[in-house]
Amino acid sequence: MPDKKDIKICLLKLLYLTSYPGTHLLIYRDRMHDKTQYLKDKKALAQVGGGEKRIEKQHEKGKLTARERVFFLLDEGSFEEIGMLVTHRCTDFGMEKQRFLGDGVVTGYGTIHGRLVYVFAQDFTVFGGSLSETHAEKICKIMDLAAKNGAPVIGLNDSGGARIQEGVNSLGGYADIFYRNARFSGVIPQISAIMGPCAGGAVYSPALTDFTIMVEQTSYMFVTGPNVVKTVTNEEVTSEELGGAMTHATKSGVTHLTAANDIDCLERTKRLLSYMPQNCEEKPAKYPYALGEEMREELTNIIPENANQPYDMRDVVKGIVDADSFFEIHEYYADNIIVGFARLGGRSIGIVGNQPMSLAGVLDVNSSKKGARFVRFCDCFNIPLLVLEDVPGFLPGTDQEWNAIITNGAKLLYAFSEATVPRVTLITRKAYGGAYDVMNSKHIGADMNYAWPTAEIAVMGAKGASEIIFRREIAAADDPAAVLAQKEQEYKDKFADPYRAARRGFIDEVIEPKYSRRKLIRAFAMLENKKVDLPKKKHGNLPL
Ligand code: HXC
Repeated sequence: MPDKKDIKICLLKLLYLTSYPGTHLLIYRDRMHDKTQYLKDKKALAQVGGGEKRIEKQHEKGKLTARERVFFLLDEGSFEEIGMLVTHRCTDFGMEKQRFLGDGVVTGYGTIHGRLVYVFAQDFTVFGGSLSETHAEKICKIMDLAAKNGAPVIGLNDSGGARIQEGVNSLGGYADIFYRNARFSGVIPQISAIMGPCAGGAVYSPALTDFTIMVEQTSYMFVTGPNVVKTVTNEEVTSEELGGAMTHATKSGVTHLTAANDIDCLERTKRLLSYMPQNCEEKPAKYPYALGEEMREELTNIIPENANQPYDMRDVVKGIVDADSFFEIHEYYADNIIVGFARLGGRSIGIVGNQPMSLAGVLDVNSSKKGARFVRFCDCFNIPLLVLEDVPGFLPGTDQEWNAIITNGAKLLYAFSEATVPRVTLITRKAYGGAYDVMNSKHIGADMNYAWPTAEIAVMGAKGASEIIFRREIAAADDPAAVLAQKEQEYKDKFADPYRAARRGFIDEVIEPKYSRRKLIRAFAMLENKKVDLPKKKHGNLPL
């Protein structure tokens, strides 16, 4: 970071230069005898982006500048900037008189916890961080480098969208970025932090990346803003309501994570990255771990006596994984399923768990989409999957059917079936109906399937099943309720346990809850070198 004196000198120069637009570089050059000093001054000038006033404005909004963000994101002293001296080529609307070094985006590479990453940070102090042709070229350059060198790209977005003065050149620039987002998807991890405006077509780059994290109150994303919404639909809505962080975290699921402020956003981004490998050909970092006793008594009493009583699947997660290692994704969206990263015996894993606390853990449209997207990310980047299952089936109703629970449920089924990473399932309680198949059953390629003694693996719950198969008998009885209760008990005795499935080998072992952690650490260690080839194909046709 430049010191205050450097900034002051640069600001004076900036003031001078903007007073004599267009000619400034020439005048400046004539005066400059010392070429090294000339370079130093240029670099210092680039540091101040759009100038002190605009930097102040940025700070007043509670936002850091692009350079400050890069500074806090990367390991100290590791940042190497690329393209600091780039300027735009636009000569319309007097733009030739307004050129800022770097053209509104800081790009380069550095390290996070010693790992190489490529980064771009849009500089809102320069034309509102808007994207020009050259601004896009800078981003594309580091994306290309990242793909060639197999390292993640982190984009810090803070932009007024397409540089209005540039017209189609700017649109082309966006498309160049979108193209790379898609081409490099599954090759290198791509993370988008939204730290200011992100509107119009600009939203599609983050949407194409693996993870989006939004800062509360200071960021928003929408295809069309409140004014257009008002004109077209007559709805009155604020930017925050339409596309703020919590809106996208709870309603649309567009953002996977939220952050309280810029620093929190950068810290969360670093943590997210820690679970991932550098690229699709590597495995995530493994932390040293020596297997010990690993008994977790607290897992014994989680499942309530009453099978219809909810409990928090997060307690199961915490009882299994390494201390404080669970990092939940999409926490506020479709909370009937939980997904997130954790470490188990020092290894990164992805967890997908039904959540009995919400809608009894049923699978519906949104939870299927959420689960599927997460499973596919883990599979892209060699992150083994642990599935914690307590699912009463798919959610019935017109709302679900008309919103394509068939197609959306199939996404999760497809994602698991296609995944070649180590896959382990632990059934804690219910595994009913089609959801039993979908939730990483042995039949769709899971490697190891465990069940607690409390598991109930059946076509449906005992009551529903009895009402269907004993309907006539119940209707003809003097005391239908008593007969139903008796039949329900009969059905429960026959099916509401894991042993029938274990006899068939659909469950590899029924285990006591307290031994789960040890069992799972060993299972994932055993599966470490798993290798599966998919049938030769161009790519599958997942039910989008
Ligand atoms: C050029 C822009 C700009 C843009 C902002 N600025 N957006 N310059 N192109 N798109 C400039 C402003 O002129 C101003 O310059 C500075 O950035 C800061 O902007 P302010 O308006 O003062 O800031 P603020 O009040 O915080 O408002 C931010 C904003 C607003 C909400 C983003 O600037 C805005 O509405 N901008 C236009 C958004 C837009 O319509 N973009 C095009 C979307 S279409 P000075 O010199 O005063 O500092 C699109 C298509 C992409 O993006 C399609 C891809 C497929």
